[in-house]
Amino acid sequence: MRTPRFLFAPMRTFFALMVAAALAITGLLAPPASAQDVPTPPNENWSFDGIFGTPDLAAAQRGFQVYSEVCSTCHAIHQMHFRDLTGLGFNDAQVKAIASTFTVPQGLDDSGQPKEGPGMPANQFRSPFPNEKAARAAMNGAYPPDLSLIINAREGGANYVYGILTGYADAPTGFTMQDAMNYNRYFPGHQIAMPQPLQDGKVTYTDGTPNTVDQMARDVATFLYWTSNPETTERKQMGIRVILFLVLLTGVTYAVKRKIWSDVH
Ligand code: HEC
Repeated sequence: MRTPRFLFAPMRTFFALMVAAALAITGLLAPPASAQDVPTPPNENWSFDGIFGTPDLAAAQRGFQVYSEVCSTCHAIHQMHFRDLTGLGFNDAQVKAIASTFTVPQGLDDSGQPKEGPGMPANQFRSPFPNEKAARAAMNGAYPPDLSLIINAREGGANYVYGILTGYADAPTGFTMQDAMNYNRYFPGHQIAMPQPLQDGKVTYTDGTPNTVDQMARDVATFLYWTSNPETTERKQMGIRVILFLVLLTGVTYAVKRKIWSDVH
């Protein structure tokens, strides 16, 4: 007996749906291929961990030094203006001095050519490259991403950034490297176009903190946590003050209550 013609189209649709469903289910069950070759960077202890944790501002200030002396030659932090640095504990005069050490675009000169000059507190931290194409041309085809929100944008957050900065190593034997790429334990695919940015002694800290790769990576990750979460930092600090205030208020209220009721027998 032949299947009536009018059933063909619905049957085809039904089969197509079944196949699609089967593919979707196997796709969901199988881990994504790339997840397997990206080891999770280990969990470090961070000052900003937990609900009341806030970034250690001294570490974040040192991290800012690492950013400005090392990372800013390739990476922007566009979301940040120099004046935002007051949130890290710098005063207005310090912010002005810091801003003036950066070069920013300043419109056009008299002959219509783009002009540059020292930064002001209201300026943004910008990319050192005029555009993405120029950055890629200088960076073996790769683009140094804006770091403002990198801690929130990447799984692993600060652990990931710290992992990348400390994860450079010799490629294991048998691992084929592409030209001008660097082996990194924690970068997806293990080949990163960024040359190892930190070496021991790369920056000179004024507070006597040892300038090891590990310390600088930790400090710059703390700074980048702050650029990703400037308000969270303030909110948590406010939260702590509110709780301390409530504890104090409870104590005072209790003392007053005891005083008032002390004559009642
Ligand atoms: C010489 C230029 C250069 C310097 C200096 C540099 N980077 Fe990079 N960085 C790059 C490039 C290029 C990439 C993109 C790598 C790729 O896609 O293979 C990158 C990638 C990264 C990534 C991974 C981004 C992602 O998409 O997951 C992080 C994190 C990072 N850089 C942080 C830093 C920090 C922090 C510093 C300073 C300590 C720094 N970089 C200094 C060029 C640089």
